[in-house]
Amino acid sequence: MSKTEFDTSVAHQARMYDYLLGGKDNYAADRAAIEAQLEIFPDLAFAALANRAFLGRAVRYLAAEAGIRQFLDIGTGIPTAGNTHQVAQEITPESRVVYVDYDPVVLAHARALLISHEAGATDYIDADLRDTGNILGQAGQLLDFGEPVAVTLVAILHAIPDSDDPYAIVARLMDAVPAGSYLAISHMGTGLLDSETRRGLEAHSGRAMQQRLTARSREQVTRFFAGTDLVPPGVVRVEEWRQEPGTAADGPGSSALWGAVGRKR
Ligand SMILES: C[S@@+](CC[C@H](N)C(=O)[O-])C[C@H]1O[C@@H](n2cnc3c(N)ncnc32)[C@H](O)[C@@H]1O
Repeated sequence: MSKTEFDTSVAHQARMYDYLLGGKDNYAADRAAIEAQLEIFPDLAFAALANRAFLGRAVRYLAAEAGIRQFLDIGTGIPTAGNTHQVAQEITPESRVVYVDYDPVVLAHARALLISHEAGATDYIDADLRDTGNILGQAGQLLDFGEPVAVTLVAILHAIPDSDDPYAIVARLMDAVPAGSYLAISHMGTGLLDSETRRGLEAHSGRAMQQRLTARSREQVTRFFAGTDLVPPGVVRVEEWRQEPGTAADGPGSSALWGAVGRKR
């Protein structure tokens, strides 16, 4: 299959998330996979909204309070409301954002991510998170790795199995950025789902989705932040991370996603 072709008969994380957020860039297989997952975990729609709200709060924190002007957003997703550059450039128009995703549907919509404030800049890289050399090489054309960078890995690392060593991937990215850089992560969590629900979701992803999802514990998620100081409140459910009245996902629910931001020492 060429890079521009894709199989719409298999559910894919980007299109499933788009469906949950109310987007139109999804196919019958994606919608069927979501309906099946909602049977297993009814709070999935809440989780998607809470995750997106976490991304917004994290980027606002990084731009407004941490003084970050450069972002490397890997696992961008299909453009929707509140893309990273829009959130950051609303606060600091000169922000530079490099987006990375490997989904052809995200690539097809990437031009929406390239409409930057004229004071800043954005770029899009069609690449796999596991190919860190390629990502860093291309991102270095827009980002200055001599200055702090925020690396955002929001709702992507659970698509990387242990066999692909996600800790080494994150370490390679953080090694490339200077002290004072930041890492933001959200991640499907064990300890937040009862074991039957977790096993149900992982097994369903293995059967029906292109990626098998791996939930990780609070301790396992904390390990990604080695070499950083966690920004309070540390590793918590995404909806609990620096809640701002009026911006959290509406309604009751539990996202079952861990979220945190750390500052590189
Ligand atoms: C659930 S979406 C999250 C979108 C956005 N970060 C957010 O949280 O709102 C996850 C994205 O990660 C992308 N993704 C998953 N595995 C990837 C990989 N190995 N390399 C690049 N992108 C990947 C998917 O294509 C999808 O667009």
